[in-house]
Amino acid sequence: MNPVELIIRKREDGALTEDEIVFLVESYTRGDLPDYQISAFLMAAFLNGLSRDEALALTRAMLNSGVVLDLSGVAGTKVDKHSTGGVGDKVSIALAPVVAAAGVPVPMISGRGLGHTGGTLDKLEAIPGLRTDLTIAEYTSQLADIGLVMIGQTDEIAPADRKLYALRDVTGTVEYIPFIASSIMSKKLAEGIDGLVLDVKWGRGAFMRDEGKARKLAETLVGIANDYGKSAVAWLTDMNDPLGYAIGNWPETREAIACLHGESVIEVSTLVEVLAGEMIWLGGKASSAAEGREVAREMLSSGKALAKFSEMVIRQGGDPRVVEDPDVMTAPTIAVDVHASSSGTIDGIDPYQLGRVAVDLGAGRLAVTDEVDPMAGITLLKKPGDSVQQNEAIARLQTLRRDRIETAAARIAECFSFGAGASDRSLMADRYVNGDWTGESVPA
Ligand code: URA
Repeated sequence: MNPVELIIRKREDGALTEDEIVFLVESYTRGDLPDYQISAFLMAAFLNGLSRDEALALTRAMLNSGVVLDLSGVAGTKVDKHSTGGVGDKVSIALAPVVAAAGVPVPMISGRGLGHTGGTLDKLEAIPGLRTDLTIAEYTSQLADIGLVMIGQTDEIAPADRKLYALRDVTGTVEYIPFIASSIMSKKLAEGIDGLVLDVKWGRGAFMRDEGKARKLAETLVGIANDYGKSAVAWLTDMNDPLGYAIGNWPETREAIACLHGESVIEVSTLVEVLAGEMIWLGGKASSAAEGREVAREMLSSGKALAKFSEMVIRQGGDPRVVEDPDVMTAPTIAVDVHASSSGTIDGIDPYQLGRVAVDLGAGRLAVTDEVDPMAGITLLKKPGDSVQQNEAIARLQTLRRDRIETAAARIAECFSFGAGASDRSLMADRYVNGDWTGESVPA
């Protein structure tokens, strides 16, 4: 096959066959096709579009570029969850043990944070000693033994996606829904799952700012999963304000642990229960998602979810004492309160800017090689809808970067806007399953 001919065909809005797409992806991953040719193809596809068959072929090519795990030896219907990323999103850490405690095996492979959003892996690694770099053999045997495993992306999974994503990042070709969906699904399908629950976020702190585009992404993700014979449900959720109170690795893990202790954390507990309910249903341990939600609540109130999380932490080398009592976590940090610049009712807190300040405080990274400080971050003391007086404490920042404190405090105060109070948007705006939006919604 001639790559130039394939690029020209896509440039002229023609269709490529599965074999042709596999050829381009395989040649690029092997290093036989230069960056400039695959970049030209990506831009032509970005501008002229990929058909559903082409998007599926791209997913298949990236999936088959690495190992596809076989979990058929592990009993049960294996279900995972994926979030498109948000600020303060610690849901996976509390949700996975809830689902596993209900008897549905959860094999979870997560990413690290980059830019304004955090990553589950960095949050988990805030637990002293906890390893996320398990081998595939360890991953499979832990799943078989305790029904729960949470690890990081390995080099063996979808290497073509890693290479293509890095190229898309520098060629202006990230924000195209079939590229995003095939990238996410190539990694999720490689995990060996039977079902997937997707939390597709929209809003000013999300990857997709526009609700309509987030809907399209949800439809495309579920469509790819279904085409692979996997059951899938997507929820469209609001990311116009940060989720919960905590932003930063240990602060967020601590908040997830609070949920596991049965505390009700605004927004976080709702997402945990609803999404866990979907997973429990897909995993065959409830006859509907609503019944699954009841099971999820029972796993939380009985302490079974907390016990499952401790079991996983111990198995992965982490210190279970911080799960039993998060107050025993000690690490150096400086904590400073941020005060309101005016009086009024809070109507919004800009998650994108807050995420960026958290990165500056040491909680995240601008480059993949940056180190993160587990204690760094921001804890909100007030949420939208709360009334505050000028100079009242509205947030607390934690950092080791003494020189950043003053600027960060001023930037955090600017993230709060005052006006009519919280909007009446639903936290969970709609649900997509079996090719339809059901119109269900859930408040915070
Ligand atoms: N996340 C991914 O994994 N891939 C994309 O293309 C975008 C977000």
